[in-house]
Order: sequence, then structure tokens, then C-alpha cells
Amino acid sequence: MSTAEALAAIRNRMDTPNAKVGFILGSGLGHLADLVEGTSIDYADLPGFPHAGVSGHNPKLVIGKLEGVDVAILGGREHFYENGRADAMRVPLEVLAELGVDTLFATNACGSFLPEIPPGNLMLLNDHINYSGRSPLIGEPTDRRFVNLTNAYDPDLRARLQAAAEAEGIPLKEGVYAWYSGPNFETPAEIRMLKLLGADAVGMSTVPEVILGRFLDMKCCAISVVTNMAAGLGNEHISHEHTKASAPIGAAKLERIIKRVLPTLAQ
Ligand code: HPA
Repeated sequence: MSTAEALAAIRNRMDTPNAKVGFILGSGLGHLADLVEGTSIDYADLPGFPHAGVSGHNPKLVIGKLEGVDVAILGGREHFYENGRADAMRVPLEVLAELGVDTLFATNACGSFLPEIPPGNLMLLNDHINYSGRSPLIGEPTDRRFVNLTNAYDPDLRARLQAAAEAEGIPLKEGVYAWYSGPNFETPAEIRMLKLLGADAVGMSTVPEVILGRFLDMKCCAISVVTNMAAGLGNEHISHEHTKASAPIGAAKLERIIKRVLPTLAQ
């Protein structure tokens, strides 16, 4: 219901809203939305969209052109830790699917486990570990809920992103992202455990959205901006303030990669 209502609200403001590539922007990464030429609608005016929000997020939907490509940007997300709803982004993602989005690009801030991906750098997700144990598809009644997550992070998109990063001279290592529910940061012991389990970085988002993206038949990709070494692995004092302050360093690199890759995604 909300999805139809949100679409109606969008169509009230735009004649023929459509988009091919959808973005979800993470903490401190909202600037991309400001580069789009198009229509911006506050989440507060869109039924079913998250209304509270986390500081450092930019709660608006922007539909328009970026590098000549039709995009729809979700400037902020509701996290599982806000209200305990893993499916909080279902309506916004369904709206994107209805607008024609077939490629979903998620961004987030993360804590890195790898000395070779220090703060200020980017990690391209090649898989995830859903350490929260929660799925946004719990309660979905149809057999479509049995989503296959092999190659959830689309290999072709990853190759294009690698090529774009190389062309920009930006290192882009791949790794496995662990979704930890938050909102508290992890303990050093938890980080040692996640490392043993095969993760390379940790964060509080993205995994539920990629599951929903695959559910909606979107090709998905995600890039993390490393804002800190994870708990116990570095010297910084880990905090949300630190995340917001550090994100712009990696975000500038991410923006260059996105601008470079976008035209290749339109084909
Ligand atoms: N842990 C979880 N989420 C994060 C971190 C972290 O260390 N850094 C930025 N987001």
C-alpha cells in the first residue's frame, strides 16, 4: 500500500519519473545526492519511507540525471538498530524497482580489519556475513522469499567498478562485509571472532538492502568507505562523530569512481 502511495506522491511532482541506477547513501556520504540534476523529495512527504533518521544522513529521494544517466538516490537509510525492523527500506526499494531501477548501488561507512585497507580507503564488497541473523524477508508470504544470495554482489558490476577505480588511480580492494546490528560498536573480542569467521570489515547496514535488492531482481553492488580500523585494531577512538568526520575522505574517492562507472552502467 505504502509503495503505491509513495509512487503517487512522486508522480504528483514529476511527469514521468524513471531511473535505471539506484543508490543508497551511507553516513557522511550524502553529498552525491547534491550532484544530481532533478527533483528532490523529502522522505517526510513519502509514505512508507523512514522518518526519523540518523545524524549524518540526508533523508530525501532525488530522481534525476547524473553523468547523463537516470538515477534515483536514497539519501539516507533506516537501520535495523533504529526500530528493530530489518525490512525498514523495503518500501523505498520497491519504489525504486517501480521507477525502473535494475541496478542497486549501496554505500556505507565501515570499520576495516585489514591493514592494507586503512581509514580513508574503500572496500568493494564481494560477499557478506549476516551476523545479525535477521532477514528483511521474514514474514514475506510468497516463495519469492527464498532468495539466492550466491553472487549477490554482481561480478560484472564489480569488474566495471574495478576498471573505473583503476582508471581513476584509486585502490579498490575487495572483501567480505559483516553486518553487525549496532547501534553500539563492537568489542575487540567480537572483531577477532568476525575475522576468524572470514569477514574483512564490519558495519551496521547494507546487508538487508542487498537482500531486498536481490528479492526485487536488482543487480547489486556495494562499496564501503573505511572510516576506522575496527575495535581493537587501531588507535582511533571509535565513535559516530569520528565516522561522520572521516567519511568525506573516502567519499571523495567514491564519488570519482561512481562518476566514472555510471555511463557504463547505462548500457
Ligand atoms: N563498526 C560498525 N560500523 C561502523 C564502524 C565500525 O567500526 N565504522 C563505521 N561504521
